[in-house]
Order: sequence, then structure tokens, then C-alpha cells
Amino acid sequence: MSRTSTPGASRTTRTTTSTRTTTHPRRRGRALAATLAGLALTAVTATAGPARPASAAPVHEDRTPQGRTLGDLAARHDLAIGTAVDPAALIDPRYRSIASTEFTSVTAENAMKWEVTEPVRGTYDWSAAERFMAFAERNDQKVRGHVLVWNNQLPAWLTEGVASGAIDRAELRGILKKHVQDTVRHFKGRVWQWDVVNEAVTDSYDAVDGRIGYKGFWAEQLGPGYVADAFRWAREADPKALLFYNDYNIDAFGDGGPLDKTAFVYRMVKRLRENGVPIDGVGSQAHLSTRYGNYSAFQIADTLERFAGLGVATALTEVDVRNLLPAEATSDALNPLLQAQAFDYSALLTGCLASRHCISYTVWGFDDNHSWTNTWDFGSGPGREALAAIYDTGYQPKPAYRALQADLAYSAPPLVQRRIPQRPTP
Ligand code: G3I
Repeated sequence: MSRTSTPGASRTTRTTTSTRTTTHPRRRGRALAATLAGLALTAVTATAGPARPASAAPVHEDRTPQGRTLGDLAARHDLAIGTAVDPAALIDPRYRSIASTEFTSVTAENAMKWEVTEPVRGTYDWSAAERFMAFAERNDQKVRGHVLVWNNQLPAWLTEGVASGAIDRAELRGILKKHVQDTVRHFKGRVWQWDVVNEAVTDSYDAVDGRIGYKGFWAEQLGPGYVADAFRWAREADPKALLFYNDYNIDAFGDGGPLDKTAFVYRMVKRLRENGVPIDGVGSQAHLSTRYGNYSAFQIADTLERFAGLGVATALTEVDVRNLLPAEATSDALNPLLQAQAFDYSALLTGCLASRHCISYTVWGFDDNHSWTNTWDFGSGPGREALAAIYDTGYQPKPAYRALQADLAYSAPPLVQRRIPQRPTP
């Protein structure tokens, strides 16, 4: 069975071609998804049952499970249901309505990233991030802060300064500390979970010398010790936020060998905890594709429980399930994909519900208009794997949405219990 999912490129265990980039995202093209979207909608609405009005919350209160929001249904489990938000999209009332009513947690898709917040050295621009925060605060939503240290979406002054030799290693470490602490202090008391370090390690397909290891700009420049430093710096700046390591392709353990990324991350987190580094959580991004076999709820639950055994909370942080678009967008071609997609969304949620330390389930965009998959090249061409969200391009709920509702509604003790809150490590 295939075991791999990645935001940069989907691979089976046999495929080794990497299409992921670090500092320079892949070129995008117009998405085939956009062309297929209208036809996909036909297939979806034929199977998803009556859709609720897209424009606003229901006029009269519907207390049936299918009439309740995901956030509402998840509340009795104490589970936050989140979405990534693009502040620019909030101008669309249909987008805004769903973002504000369905979800109890939000993540800025790009607005808190370094290239956005400090495009010019020493000059911060918090405007997009503050628009996002204002939305979250108005709607009483918990905020996942994304992201403090990543190899991607870094400002040009930083990467070019390092490349030219104008910024040396000692200065770079100081710059990173300042970035982490200025950002965390700016949002102090307003962020529930911070993705402190994101995607720090290789996959099986880009492993060096046949082993998973540290990768990218920060490890190359500062060595892997930057991971522990970043958590310590973040803790100094906000003693109350939960501090997460966040990565993809850590949905399930493999054979425990040198190419098992989940096992590598597990050992890394274990060491950090043993060394007193204030890491409070592990975020499993969970970018899946129906091209692959993916996981059962049992595998997800087992993975989350094993991480919880280290004393950390867990969260599913960027869930989406894309489809390799068929040549023709007929109902015959699309409906099996939508069913497979619903299965994957559901397996992830059920696994999370089964583990009491899994405290949030966040989708990486909720509708097929606003998904990074629409333009990304996963190896088959830009936008060839898309339709990844739980609402279609017309903001109608897809089978995946209904599956999540049912999972939340029809789960109860003794097997599903309320979440155990995580306390920040001092
Ligand atoms: O803002 C510029 C705009 O000025 C410019 O005209 C346009 C032209 O291409 O690009 C815009 O920037 C794009 C940005 O999204 C905002 O839309 C970048 O090109 C594009 O690369 C960027 O993609 C983001 C991607 O991270 C970058 O790696 C996606 O929206 C975002 O969903 C994605 O999110 C990541 C998580 O942060 C970490 N985990 C993986 C996940 C998916 O890759």
C-alpha cells in the first residue's frame, strides 16, 4: 500500500522524484481544476444531499446533525475545528460566512509568514496578519500561529544576504532569534498554538545517504541545533502559547528504519523533551491524495497516541485530500474520487477523535476555489491534482464535509472522550 502524502509532491513508496522546493516555490500555471470545477460541482451536488444556503447561517436553527456546523458538533469533544484563511478572500460574503460559522479555530495561510511580515529588513508589516487576527477575534476563534521558522517564503533580503555573504552565521542566528521573538511578542496572548518549526526534515525521497535527516536553509546555515533554539526563544517570548513542531508525511509510522520519517520526528521530539526544550505539540499536516492508499483511522490514532506518549499534544494542522483529475469530468469519473476523499478526511478525524491529546483538526482551506492545490505541481503538472477541499467551488458541502459531520455527531464515550488540555511546558 502507498504510504506517502506531501504538500510538495505526492509519491508512492516506490517513487523517488522530488518536486518540492525550499526558498523558491514552484512556478504555477492556470489550473485544470478551474476548468473542471463546474462539472465537479454537478457530480458533488448529485451525491451530497441538500446543501445549506451558501450565503449565510441557517435562518432557523436546525439541530439535526447535518444542520449543525462542524465547530458546534466538535465542541462536545472539546476539539477545535479549524481552517486556513486567506484574508484577501474574506471580501467574498460566502467565504466569510463559512469561515466564521463552521470553524472554531483559524490559521493564517500566508499572512504570518516572514516574507509577508518583514519584507524589508527591520520594517514590519503586520497589516495582513492583523486583518486575519481581527477576523478570528471577532468570531471568537482560536488562532494557530503559522509559521515562525521555515525554509520557505523567506524574505529576499535574508536569503540574498546569506547567499552573497553579507550576512554571516553569527548574524543570521541573531536575525532568527529576533524574528521569532518579535513575532511571538507581537501576538503575545492572542495565539493558542504556534508552529515554531515547520518541515525541518527530509522525506524518504530526498533522503541523503539513505537516511532521513535535517534539511534546508536553516539546518545548512546553523546546523540542527536551531530547532531547540527556536522553541526556547519562542517560550521566552510567550510563556502561555503552545509550541508545535509541524510537518507532513508523519501521518503513520513505517518500519522504524532510516527512511521512516515519522520515526525520525518521533525520536527528535523525544530528545527535545528529554533535554528540557519547551515543545508542547506535534502537528501532522496531513496533505493526502486519493492517488495513494493512505491510512486507516487506526493507524492515525496509533501515531497520535505514540506522540502523546512523549507528553505532547497533537493536532492535524493542514488537512486536505486532493484528486488526480480525470481526463473527463464526468460523474462516473468524479464520484469515486469524492468518496475516496471523504474516506481519507474521515479516517484522519476519527483517528484524532480516538486520541484524547489530539486537540485540533484544521483543513488547509475549506473550498475548492481557495486551495493551494489548484496551482501546485505535484509532479503531473500545475493544478492536475486538486479539488482537495470539503466544499466545492460553489461553496456547497461535498461528501467529505458530510463525513466529518457524521463522525463528529456519531462518536461518543467510551471510545471517544473529551480532549485533555495541554499545558505549556515551562
Ligand atoms: O503574494 C504573491 C503575489 O504578490 C504574487 O503576485 C503571486 C504570483 O505568483 O504570488 C503570491 O504569492 C503566493 C502566495 O502563496 C500567496 O498567494 C506564492 O507565489 C505561493 O507560492 C504561495 O503558496 C503558498 C505555499 O505555502 C508556499 O510554499 C500557499 O498559498 C500555501 O497554502 C502553502 O502552505 C504550506 C504551509 O505553509 C506549510 N505546509 C505546506 C503548505 C502547502 O504547501
